[in-house]
Amino acid sequence: MDPAPTMSRDVSYPTYRNLPPLAGVCSMQRAVQAEWSLDESVDRLKRLHYVMRRLHEALTARITAEPIYELKTLFAHHGYLFAEHVEATRKRVSEMREPPLGLDRVPHAGLERAFDDWQSAPQTADLVAALYHHLLPRVHRAWQDLRDQAHPLADAPTVRTAKLIAFELEEIIRCGQRAADCLDDAEGANNAGDSKDADARDAWLQHLMDALAAAGQIDGREPSDQPVPDPWPGSEPYRYDPVPQRDERFRDPYNAGVNPEAFLYDPGFRPRDKTLMMYYKRIRELDVPEMMASILVEMRSEQPWAFHMEMSRQLWDEARHAMMGEVGFVSQGIDWTQIPINFTWSLNLNSQLDVWQRHGVLFFIEQGLMPRTGKRYEYEVAYESGDPLAALFQDFDWADEVLHAQIGRRWYVPRFKSLNEAMQYGDECWSKVLSHWQSYRDQGLTEHHNWWPALYTQACQNWGQAPDAAALAFDKTYENSRADLEELD
Ligand SMILES: [Fe+2]
Ligand SMILES: [Fe+2]
Repeated sequence: MDPAPTMSRDVSYPTYRNLPPLAGVCSMQRAVQAEWSLDESVDRLKRLHYVMRRLHEALTARITAEPIYELKTLFAHHGYLFAEHVEATRKRVSEMREPPLGLDRVPHAGLERAFDDWQSAPQTADLVAALYHHLLPRVHRAWQDLRDQAHPLADAPTVRTAKLIAFELEEIIRCGQRAADCLDDAEGANNAGDSKDADARDAWLQHLMDALAAAGQIDGREPSDQPVPDPWPGSEPYRYDPVPQRDERFRDPYNAGVNPEAFLYDPGFRPRDKTLMMYYKRIRELDVPEMMASILVEMRSEQPWAFHMEMSRQLWDEARHAMMGEVGFVSQGIDWTQIPINFTWSLNLNSQLDVWQRHGVLFFIEQGLMPRTGKRYEYEVAYESGDPLAALFQDFDWADEVLHAQIGRRWYVPRFKSLNEAMQYGDECWSKVLSHWQSYRDQGLTEHHNWWPALYTQACQNWGQAPDAAALAFDKTYENSRADLEELD
């Protein structure tokens, strides 16, 4: 059957008292256009779903071994937002007579080639530049086109989804391009006058664009008779690196010479002084995204999408908690880079436990934060301290941790007969982890120097208060205990 001719004449259609027509979705002129179909909508959504999922997976997998703090947290943020985009897209596809959804199929070999070769970029600056200057602007265009071309009335839910995602992508691209330019500026300063790297990047970018062109671009609408290019010469398939890395501002990261929990739970110390230990505990949480990324990567095909969505949200929350610690120190006029921010939790878990055990430890710790002595206690201490920022942060940190315990109950506990058994397994797994407290010292990686008195003295100066002598003398380490104050054998 021939398609019906498109209505192109002016539609003059009076509404009652000239009220906006069609509940505000569009004009009548637009609504009588019939150039859209459910199949077209589903096809485009499935391609975009594939693309957002690749972006989410690639950034998540980079979090652990990315040394630069600002990039680590940026990847956690944008990776999470891409997961939200995947979620919204899946939901819409599922509403359109689609079971089975077929969302695991690769929509075009050219798209796969482009994202495989992008993800394998050995240099972070190349990865970031290609993502924010080249790939994402094309992805953004594809969402805008879907927003503008989908029938605004018949396919209103798709239009809304595309509109929100396109809107969010604008900010992601703006921030990402700034990051890319900063990395390139720093790189350029290091290799002044060297155009070899720039030529190599241009050739690689052209290769990515060729792969996209072979796919008919992101949404497949460009006619193409180009073949899918071979893999980029010399590129290795991307492999996840589970060893956490930190940039040079993280001095002495093996240092476990101060046990903040021992200070925090000691009733003899003042709430104000304890806020410093809480800010330290927050910023130290950077190790949680480093460890959680390993769970998401290794359970890529073992777990359904809903697991990845919820765990990605949790991963982003933990990155936020770390940044709340950073902000806390800034608010106190304290240079956090003078404090050794320990990273051996993610290092030890990622190198000593399997993925199920790591999930067990995560759940055990988060569930352990729920009793009165956990997150509520931290909030109460922060509230009593008179530092409004500490109270604000601990209030939201507590709320986030309640959510995380629920996520663990949904995805981890059902593997066991009971909550008790699930907790016991997590506890055992954590006890199995060797802290290497002695051996890190013996290897000369740290002296476990007690950094607390210097931090505390400086904070007291900033507050114009005399230090509490007992607090100043605090000298408990992690040598024989875990962060939940359990004694180690
Ligand atoms: Fe947290
Ligand atoms: Fe958490």
